[in-house]
Amino acid sequence: MELIVVNHEEEMSKWAAYYILRQLKQKPDSILGLATGGTPLGMYRLLRQQDKQLYAKATTFNLDEYAGLPAGHPQSYRAYMKDELFSAIELPEAQSHLPDGMADPEIECAAYEEQIEASGGIDLQILGIGSNGHIGFNEPGTPFDSRTHKVELKEETRKANQRFFDKLDDVPTHALTMGIGTILKSRKIVLLASGQEKQEALRLLLSGIQTVDVPATSLLDHPDVTVIADCAALPETVLEQAAISFSMEHLNLMMT
Ligand code: GLP
Repeated sequence: MELIVVNHEEEMSKWAAYYILRQLKQKPDSILGLATGGTPLGMYRLLRQQDKQLYAKATTFNLDEYAGLPAGHPQSYRAYMKDELFSAIELPEAQSHLPDGMADPEIECAAYEEQIEASGGIDLQILGIGSNGHIGFNEPGTPFDSRTHKVELKEETRKANQRFFDKLDDVPTHALTMGIGTILKSRKIVLLASGQEKQEALRLLLSGIQTVDVPATSLLDHPDVTVIADCAALPETVLEQAAISFSMEHLNLMMT
């Protein structure tokens, strides 16, 4: 696992955008795994300013969707993706995929899994991390070999996501998510973390001890994971020993 330490969220977003752009330039028909939530917002903002044609041959699969929210609901992840990225790029609609939160969950999850496999599998998966260590909506306790499935959201996850809704009661209780096993099949994974509320989850991940209680520790087995974290998200002990940190001048050069 590679760790890139950056000073703040903006640098994290720049790195994340760089990984997506590099992937698309190297392989225009890439299969991208995309994430929602607060963390990737800066990455999408930067991508909106870049070449919109880059996506013409790409295919995207999002990690998750709330169960019970129609695609047109303003807080659905489909609406989020439209607002933050899809409306600003030339990605044919048939090439973007999110689970359908209104469909029969069993049929939808099996179909989603099949679609990912039929595409040839995800080349680059972007991940955020929940403060309890969840990835996608895979809450603590989820088996590492799980496939796309319906989950009941933990109260702490619903509270963390309440900021996107008017009130807690409006936050759906269930979601459809790629499983941990689905995520682990991605050829490359980039996990983003920013802010102090992610510190404990990152401490557990970077301690190197694998446990189903911290879903992100499943990534320790994956051969190609890059964690991009800002200083606020990293515990003091990790910051002291951080093996890799890049200068922004280096990144600016790579972005051009
Ligand atoms: C949400 C999403 C995850 C996301 C995580 C962190 O519940 N389902 O995909 O990575 O929790 O969210 P945020 O980036 O808003 O902190």
